[in-house]
Amino acid sequence: MDTFLYIIMVGLPARGKSTLAWKLYESLKRDNIKVRIFNNGYLRRKLSRENTSYPEFFNPKNKTSAALREKYAIMNLRRAKNFIHKEIAKKRVAIIDATNVSFERRKKIISFLGESNILFIECINNDQEILEENIRLKTHIPEFSHITESEAIYSLKKRIEYYETIYNHLQNEPNFIKIDTFNYKIIQYKVNDDLPFIDRVRDFIVTPFIKNLYLLRHTESVYNLYDKIGGDSELTPKGIEDAQKIAKYFSNKKIPLIFTSSLKRTIQLAQIIKQYQKNCQIISFNEFNEINAGVCENMTYSEIRKTFPEIDRARKTNKYFYVYPQGEGYVSMEERIERGIKKVIYLSKHLDNIMIIGHRAVNRMILSYFVYKRQEDIPYIYVPIDRYYHITINQNKKIFELKSLNL
Ligand code: F6P
Repeated sequence: MDTFLYIIMVGLPARGKSTLAWKLYESLKRDNIKVRIFNNGYLRRKLSRENTSYPEFFNPKNKTSAALREKYAIMNLRRAKNFIHKEIAKKRVAIIDATNVSFERRKKIISFLGESNILFIECINNDQEILEENIRLKTHIPEFSHITESEAIYSLKKRIEYYETIYNHLQNEPNFIKIDTFNYKIIQYKVNDDLPFIDRVRDFIVTPFIKNLYLLRHTESVYNLYDKIGGDSELTPKGIEDAQKIAKYFSNKKIPLIFTSSLKRTIQLAQIIKQYQKNCQIISFNEFNEINAGVCENMTYSEIRKTFPEIDRARKTNKYFYVYPQGEGYVSMEERIERGIKKVIYLSKHLDNIMIIGHRAVNRMILSYFVYKRQEDIPYIYVPIDRYYHITINQNKKIFELKSLNL
């Protein structure tokens, strides 16, 4: 069997192509395969003397810029071909990371490479909410540093609109995989040839990758002090003091993204950690809000026992499936927690470190998404305030380590 493969990424901007390209790069490299990514945008930014980030540059009807983009595309293909043919006996994979959305462009790629070992991977994501958030994050890259965030958002959206006008989904190409990148799910798999590394590639695509996730609970809140559940209280002075210690603890690590719930106590801790970081953004999701205890919100456990003994009994009998009247249960949190995790994975791209600051029930559910637990045991997973979980997940390993924060 041949020992080389061209992987051609396909898809509109902000659909997770580069993230997947990087994941493939790292995973294949771990398997001692020589891999290189050829990114057209990178080449354009490196070689163009003029500014090429403005939307009209991506208008397919703009002949001058279209020719320039074509030039960079061919240049990258040539580089990829040289890379593959350097030492054909060695296992090699060239990943072409570009939009490649039109039939014409893909025909050109096939004829230029003149090889049969080509796999197209189309990244699709039509989840409007996550797209908006991803576009916003993308505007922080150096390409847009000369304009404001809202100008950059407009520019990127306009660029996407231009690409949409020439977008043809994969259809007749001999070997392709279409992926829903938000759900890391294969939508269509049509691989006719006996391609090298294909089993590995298929498996990488459906595996969530997390390099280092630090999963924390917020520090002591006013409600924790009074043993009350739910609510939206702030951190206590002790909570703030501990937050500072935690911030110092993580200060020697670069944490560019911190995900929180939209409740004050998690955001407050994130803000304190952020003060000790250089470039760090906080993103708050409702999906990570603490379990809604319905009629029991703002009560202590002993008040619940006295006022609603039937709730206390029923919850103790079957905690996972018990749903608080007018509130939630662990079981009804499943869907939103899964969505929150997928948002985190999508937005954190291939960052080395990310952090989630959640709550007791939320963190139990996050942990149970990654590690198998019987449902009846999930509501009792140990989630102390003074420790955190360090999580690493890839195709070859799953590590969960409960570590001390030295508070
Ligand atoms: O006490 C803190 C808290 O986060 C409450 O807001 C929440 O209702 C509770 O923990 C969840 O834990 P359990 O499901 O064990 O009651």
